Amino acid sequence: MKALVLSGGAGTRLRPITHTSAKQLVPVGNKPIIEFGLEAIRDAGITDVGIIVGETHEEIREHVGDGSRFGIDVTYVHQPQPLGLAHAVLTAADYLGDDDFVMYLGDNLIAGGITDFVRQFEGRQPAAQILLAKVRDPERFGIAELDGQQRVTRLVEKPREPTSDLALVGVYLFSSRILDASRSIKPSDRGELEITDAIQWLIDEGEEVHSQVIDGWWKDTGKLYDLLEANRIVLDALDPRISGTIDADSEVQGRVVVEEGAVLVNSFVRGPAIVGRGTRLVNTFIGPYTSIAHGCAIEDSEIEHSVVLEETRICDIRRMEDSLIGKQVEVGLTTRKPRAYRLMLGDHSRVGLV
Ligand code: DAU
Repeated sequence: MKALVLSGGAGTRLRPITHTSAKQLVPVGNKPIIEFGLEAIRDAGITDVGIIVGETHEEIREHVGDGSRFGIDVTYVHQPQPLGLAHAVLTAADYLGDDDFVMYLGDNLIAGGITDFVRQFEGRQPAAQILLAKVRDPERFGIAELDGQQRVTRLVEKPREPTSDLALVGVYLFSSRILDASRSIKPSDRGELEITDAIQWLIDEGEEVHSQVIDGWWKDTGKLYDLLEANRIVLDALDPRISGTIDADSEVQGRVVVEEGAVLVNSFVRGPAIVGRGTRLVNTFIGPYTSIAHGCAIEDSEIEHSVVLEETRICDIRRMEDSLIGKQVEVGLTTRKPRAYRLMLGDHSRVGLV
């Protein structure tokens, strides 16, 4: 059994962060999302892992390397353009050979790992096995219709008028029949070779496609709100640890990690929260569900329910919530005259001022 992790794609919904970075490397709880997937794959006993990379290949390669850090052996497969999930499978045909494989979307997070799911597939040997989850916004996902016996009858990608609330989770198990299916389908209206169409082809050919509805949480972190939700869930399971320095005027409360070299001066961190390596907090309040990455400097500010990436400076911000701030960003008040907002924002930035 192999694994194929999809880390190509454009990440348009997380712009401007993804103008410069791979969406699979955005951290939750200060850990890049892709690492959760790689660890789940390793924990299921799979070490032969192909990673589909596209435009952001350098950054992914630099971060994951040969995989030995995660106990896996990585082969990179370059997909020149993000032409769909089934296209990614075809791009990896030489790597996959005739082997069964788990396909894991690099921006997905799933509770409890994938081990049981992999064992079930190995036991039953269907052509494909999919995971489903009940969602409130099925039009954002691939959806599945089931018959009375829990068999999949129909799959539709992002239907305008959904006929089911069961979304396809971004973890799939396939036999090599999915290669035949992917070769047999045509691009969809949005110009992609859809994996939902390939699985539908298997169903239409009379192949066995199993499904399982999961009851634990699952997040596709492709949008801001989902990313903040994933951050919230991951921080809720944090093992508290104080490795940095907390001065006599500072306090941490609840589930908090303060990493090596971080310094708190007259500051208060209320967990669940994480303060990264070498980050300095001065006269600052960090509220629940906040991840501050390494090398940041935050002064005279209050931040809650937010994710701040590395080496960012935030000063004199009375209250910041529900925010995702990129790397090496500077946010602050100015005393310069005339009093005015002075902004330098990347394309597709979003700012809410009060
Ligand atoms: O998250 C679950 C959903 O994932 C499913 O319900 C949908 O059926 C499935 O199509 C997919 O929808 P998304 O629109 O969220 O897919 P996205 O374009 O975000 O791509 C998912 C991952 O695969 C992401 O890490 C980028 C990568 N990718 C995507 C494409 C289109 C590639 O590596 N190559 C590609 O060609």
